[in-house]
Amino acid sequence: MLLEIKDIHVHYGKIAAIKGISLQVEDGEIVSLIGANGAGKTTTLKTISGLRPLTSGQVLFNGADISKMPGHKRVIAGIGQSPEGRGVFPGMTVQENLLMGAYTRKDALDADLAEVYELFPRLAERKNQFGGTMSGGEQQMIAIGRALMTKPKVLLLDEPSMGLAPMLIAQIFEIIKEINKRGTTVLLVEQNAQQALKLSHRAYVLETGRVVKSAPGPELLDDPQVRAAYLGGH
Ligand SMILES: Nc1ncnc2c1ncn2[C@@H]1O[C@H](COP(=O)(O)OP(=O)(O)OP(=O)(O)O)[C@@H](O)[C@H]1O
Ligand SMILES: [Mg+2]
Repeated sequence: MLLEIKDIHVHYGKIAAIKGISLQVEDGEIVSLIGANGAGKTTTLKTISGLRPLTSGQVLFNGADISKMPGHKRVIAGIGQSPEGRGVFPGMTVQENLLMGAYTRKDALDADLAEVYELFPRLAERKNQFGGTMSGGEQQMIAIGRALMTKPKVLLLDEPSMGLAPMLIAQIFEIIKEINKRGTTVLLVEQNAQQALKLSHRAYVLETGRVVKSAPGPELLDDPQVRAAYLGGH
Protein backbone atom coordinates (compact mmCIF):
# COMPACT_ATOMS: atom_id res chain seq x y z
CA MET A 1 0.00 0.00 0.00
CA LEU A 2 1.47 3.35 -1.04
CA LEU A 3 -0.71 5.62 1.06
CA GLU A 4 -2.99 4.80 3.92
CA ILE A 5 -5.02 7.02 6.22
CA LYS A 6 -6.26 5.44 9.41
CA ASP A 7 -9.17 6.94 11.31
CA ILE A 8 -8.02 10.55 11.10
CA HIS A 9 -9.71 13.39 12.96
CA VAL A 10 -8.91 17.00 12.07
CA HIS A 11 -10.14 20.15 13.78
CA TYR A 12 -10.17 23.83 12.93
CA GLY A 13 -10.26 25.30 16.40
CA LYS A 14 -13.12 23.44 18.08
CA ILE A 15 -14.84 22.53 14.84
CA ALA A 16 -14.35 18.96 13.66
CA ALA A 17 -13.80 18.99 9.90
CA ILE A 18 -12.75 15.33 9.60
CA LYS A 19 -14.46 12.83 11.86
CA GLY A 20 -12.67 9.54 11.40
CA ILE A 21 -11.72 9.05 7.77
CA SER A 22 -9.84 5.95 6.65
CA LEU A 23 -8.75 5.39 3.08
CA GLN A 24 -6.15 3.57 1.04
CA VAL A 25 -4.33 4.30 -2.18
CA GLU A 26 -2.41 1.52 -3.92
CA ASP A 27 0.67 2.12 -6.00
CA GLY A 28 -0.40 2.91 -9.59
CA GLU A 29 -4.01 3.81 -8.84
CA ILE A 30 -6.09 6.87 -9.55
CA VAL A 31 -8.33 7.35 -6.51
CA SER A 32 -10.95 10.09 -6.28
CA LEU A 33 -12.59 11.85 -3.36
CA ILE A 34 -15.97 13.28 -4.17
CA GLY A 35 -18.46 15.07 -1.96
CA ALA A 36 -20.34 18.30 -1.42
CA ASN A 37 -18.76 21.64 -0.48
CA GLY A 38 -17.37 21.47 3.02
CA ALA A 39 -17.31 17.65 3.14
CA GLY A 40 -13.61 17.67 4.05
CA LYS A 41 -11.89 16.83 0.76
CA THR A 42 -9.35 19.65 0.81
CA THR A 43 -8.68 19.09 4.49
CA THR A 44 -7.99 15.41 3.82
CA LEU A 45 -5.42 16.30 1.14
CA LYS A 46 -3.82 18.90 3.40
CA THR A 47 -3.52 16.35 6.15
CA ILE A 48 -1.72 13.99 3.79
CA SER A 49 0.67 16.69 2.58
CA GLY A 50 1.27 17.95 6.10
CA LEU A 51 -0.36 21.37 5.78
CA ARG A 52 -2.87 20.54 8.55
CA PRO A 53 -2.06 18.69 11.76
CA LEU A 54 -4.05 15.66 12.89
CA THR A 55 -5.99 15.58 16.12
CA SER A 56 -5.77 11.79 16.04
CA GLY A 57 -5.25 8.94 13.62
CA GLN A 58 -2.39 8.11 11.29
CA VAL A 59 -1.05 8.84 7.83
CA LEU A 60 1.11 6.01 6.48
CA PHE A 61 3.27 6.37 3.38
CA ASN A 62 4.99 3.24 2.09
CA GLY A 63 4.09 1.67 5.41
CA ALA A 64 5.84 4.32 7.52
CA ASP A 65 3.95 6.60 9.88
CA ILE A 66 4.46 10.15 8.57
CA SER A 67 1.78 11.76 10.74
CA LYS A 68 4.30 14.05 12.39
CA MET A 69 6.65 14.58 9.45
CA PRO A 70 6.90 18.24 8.33
CA GLY A 71 5.41 19.06 4.93
CA HIS A 72 8.68 19.74 3.09
CA LYS A 73 9.99 16.33 4.08
CA ARG A 74 6.84 14.71 2.74
CA VAL A 75 7.54 16.38 -0.61
CA ILE A 76 11.02 14.87 -0.60
CA ALA A 77 9.51 11.50 0.39
CA GLY A 78 7.31 11.60 -2.72
CA ILE A 79 4.06 13.37 -1.89
CA GLY A 80 3.36 16.14 -4.40
CA GLN A 81 0.41 18.50 -4.13
CA SER A 82 -1.28 20.87 -6.51
CA PRO A 83 -3.30 23.02 -4.11
CA GLU A 84 -6.84 24.34 -4.45
CA GLY A 85 -6.60 27.97 -5.57
CA ARG A 86 -3.36 27.14 -7.39
CA GLY A 87 -0.82 29.28 -5.53
CA VAL A 88 1.13 30.36 -8.61
CA PHE A 89 3.84 32.94 -7.87
CA PRO A 90 2.65 35.95 -9.90
CA GLY A 91 6.00 37.74 -10.18
CA MET A 92 7.90 34.71 -11.42
CA THR A 93 7.92 33.41 -14.96
CA VAL A 94 6.18 30.19 -15.89
CA GLN A 95 9.50 28.37 -15.97
CA GLU A 96 10.62 29.81 -12.62
CA ASN A 97 7.31 28.66 -11.14
CA LEU A 98 7.89 25.14 -12.45
CA LEU A 99 11.45 25.08 -11.12
CA MET A 100 10.17 26.06 -7.66
CA GLY A 101 8.66 22.58 -7.55
CA ALA A 102 12.12 21.11 -7.87
CA TYR A 103 13.90 23.19 -5.24
CA THR A 104 14.32 20.16 -2.98
CA ARG A 105 16.02 18.16 -5.73
CA LYS A 106 19.64 18.06 -6.71
CA ASP A 107 19.41 15.80 -9.76
CA ALA A 108 19.09 16.90 -13.39
CA LEU A 109 15.87 18.75 -14.11
CA ASP A 110 15.97 19.26 -17.88
CA ALA A 111 14.27 15.97 -18.73
CA ASP A 112 11.49 16.59 -16.21
CA LEU A 113 10.98 20.12 -17.42
CA ALA A 114 10.76 18.77 -20.96
CA GLU A 115 8.17 16.23 -19.83
CA VAL A 116 6.01 18.93 -18.21
CA TYR A 117 6.27 21.00 -21.38
CA GLU A 118 5.27 17.95 -23.41
CA LEU A 119 2.18 17.46 -21.24
CA PHE A 120 1.38 21.20 -21.33
CA PRO A 121 2.59 22.71 -24.64
CA ARG A 122 0.91 25.98 -23.64
CA LEU A 123 3.41 26.35 -20.80
CA ALA A 124 6.31 25.78 -23.17
CA GLU A 125 5.03 28.51 -25.49
CA ARG A 126 4.82 30.92 -22.58
CA LYS A 127 7.66 29.85 -20.35
CA ASN A 128 9.00 33.42 -20.00
CA GLN A 129 5.62 35.01 -19.25
CA PHE A 130 4.90 36.04 -15.65
CA GLY A 131 2.74 33.54 -13.76
CA GLY A 132 0.39 36.30 -12.64
CA THR A 133 -0.48 37.18 -16.23
CA MET A 134 -1.41 33.62 -17.20
CA SER A 135 -5.11 32.81 -17.50
CA GLY A 136 -6.91 30.82 -14.80
CA GLY A 137 -6.68 27.59 -16.74
CA GLU A 138 -3.03 28.18 -17.56
CA GLN A 139 -2.26 28.82 -13.90
CA GLN A 140 -3.91 25.50 -13.13
CA MET A 141 -1.49 23.87 -15.57
CA ILE A 142 1.43 25.61 -13.84
CA ALA A 143 0.28 24.29 -10.46
CA ILE A 144 0.05 20.72 -11.74
CA GLY A 145 3.36 21.05 -13.60
CA ARG A 146 5.06 22.41 -10.50
CA ALA A 147 3.80 19.47 -8.44
CA LEU A 148 5.10 17.08 -11.11
CA MET A 149 8.53 18.71 -10.87
CA THR A 150 8.80 17.34 -7.34
CA LYS A 151 8.81 13.86 -8.99
CA PRO A 152 6.05 12.62 -6.73
CA LYS A 153 5.17 8.98 -6.17
CA VAL A 154 1.68 10.19 -5.38
CA LEU A 155 0.22 13.38 -6.80
CA LEU A 156 -2.54 15.08 -4.81
CA LEU A 157 -4.77 17.16 -7.08
CA ASP A 158 -7.36 19.49 -5.55
CA GLU A 159 -10.00 20.43 -8.12
CA PRO A 160 -7.76 20.53 -11.19
CA SER A 161 -10.73 21.20 -13.48
CA MET A 162 -12.02 24.16 -11.47
CA GLY A 163 -12.76 27.21 -13.57
CA LEU A 164 -11.75 25.59 -16.84
CA ALA A 165 -13.69 25.77 -20.09
CA PRO A 166 -15.33 22.47 -21.12
CA MET A 167 -12.69 21.78 -23.79
CA LEU A 168 -9.91 22.26 -21.27
CA ILE A 169 -11.69 20.12 -18.68
CA ALA A 170 -11.63 17.15 -21.04
CA GLN A 171 -7.96 17.87 -21.71
CA ILE A 172 -7.02 18.07 -18.04
CA PHE A 173 -8.61 14.68 -17.38
CA GLU A 174 -6.71 13.22 -20.33
CA ILE A 175 -3.49 14.64 -18.90
CA ILE A 176 -4.24 13.15 -15.48
CA LYS A 177 -4.72 9.76 -17.15
CA GLU A 178 -1.42 10.19 -18.98
CA ILE A 179 0.45 11.21 -15.80
CA ASN A 180 -0.89 8.06 -14.17
CA LYS A 181 0.05 5.90 -17.17
CA ARG A 182 3.60 7.17 -16.85
CA GLY A 183 3.76 5.78 -13.33
CA THR A 184 2.49 8.40 -10.90
CA THR A 185 -0.22 7.44 -8.44
CA VAL A 186 -2.98 10.07 -8.24
CA LEU A 187 -5.33 11.11 -5.45
CA LEU A 188 -7.88 13.39 -7.04
CA VAL A 189 -10.46 15.73 -5.52
CA GLU A 190 -13.14 16.84 -7.96
CA GLN A 191 -16.53 18.55 -8.08
CA ASN A 192 -16.72 17.23 -11.60
CA ALA A 193 -17.70 13.80 -10.29
CA GLN A 194 -18.80 12.33 -13.61
CA GLN A 195 -15.41 12.77 -15.25
CA ALA A 196 -13.44 11.92 -12.13
CA LEU A 197 -15.28 8.65 -11.51
CA LYS A 198 -14.88 7.59 -15.11
CA LEU A 199 -11.10 7.54 -14.89
CA SER A 200 -10.72 6.48 -11.25
CA HIS A 201 -9.82 2.95 -10.28
CA ARG A 202 -11.58 3.59 -6.98
CA ALA A 203 -13.35 6.46 -5.28
CA TYR A 204 -14.55 7.52 -1.85
CA VAL A 205 -17.67 9.58 -1.21
CA LEU A 206 -17.26 12.04 1.69
CA GLU A 207 -20.09 13.61 3.65
CA THR A 208 -19.49 16.03 6.52
CA GLY A 209 -16.10 14.65 7.45
CA ARG A 210 -16.85 10.96 6.98
CA VAL A 211 -16.57 8.34 4.24
CA VAL A 212 -20.08 7.19 3.38
CA LYS A 213 -19.23 5.00 0.41
CA SER A 214 -16.26 3.58 -1.46
CA ALA A 215 -16.18 1.51 -4.63
CA PRO A 216 -14.56 1.31 -8.06
CA GLY A 217 -15.13 4.62 -9.88
CA PRO A 218 -17.30 3.26 -12.71
CA GLU A 219 -19.46 1.40 -10.18
CA LEU A 220 -20.23 4.65 -8.35
CA LEU A 221 -21.24 6.18 -11.68
CA ASP A 222 -24.14 3.71 -11.68
CA ASP A 223 -25.00 4.12 -8.01
CA PRO A 224 -28.47 5.72 -7.72
CA GLN A 225 -27.62 7.66 -4.53
CA VAL A 226 -24.39 8.99 -6.00
CA ARG A 227 -26.17 9.86 -9.23
CA ALA A 228 -28.84 11.79 -7.37
CA ALA A 229 -26.43 13.65 -5.10
CA TYR A 230 -23.38 14.30 -7.27
CA LEU A 231 -24.20 13.65 -10.89
CA GLY A 232 -27.18 15.92 -11.31
CA GLY A 233 -29.61 13.00 -11.06
CA HIS A 234 -29.09 11.73 -14.60
N1 LIG B 1 -9.13 27.43 7.81
C1 LIG B 1 -10.31 26.99 8.25
N2 LIG B 1 -10.85 27.46 9.41
C2 LIG B 1 -12.03 26.99 9.87
N3 LIG B 1 -12.76 26.06 9.27
C3 LIG B 1 -12.29 25.56 8.12
C4 LIG B 1 -11.05 25.99 7.54
N4 LIG B 1 -10.84 25.32 6.41
C5 LIG B 1 -11.90 24.50 6.27
N5 LIG B 1 -12.77 24.64 7.28
C6 LIG B 1 -14.03 23.90 7.47
O1 LIG B 1 -13.77 22.50 7.41
C7 LIG B 1 -14.79 21.83 6.66
C8 LIG B 1 -14.15 21.05 5.53
O2 LIG B 1 -13.61 21.98 4.60
P1 LIG B 1 -12.82 21.54 3.30
O3 LIG B 1 -12.20 22.74 2.72
O4 LIG B 1 -11.96 20.38 3.62
O5 LIG B 1 -14.04 21.02 2.39
P2 LIG B 1 -14.07 20.57 0.86
O6 LIG B 1 -14.71 19.23 0.83
O7 LIG B 1 -12.74 20.71 0.26
O8 LIG B 1 -15.09 21.64 0.22
P3 LIG B 1 -15.10 22.35 -1.23
O9 LIG B 1 -15.73 21.34 -2.15
O10 LIG B 1 -16.00 23.52 -1.04
O11 LIG B 1 -13.70 22.72 -1.59
C9 LIG B 1 -15.77 22.90 6.22
O12 LIG B 1 -16.85 22.89 7.09
C10 LIG B 1 -14.98 24.19 6.33
O13 LIG B 1 -15.81 25.28 6.63
MG1 LIG C 1 -11.97 21.90 -1.26
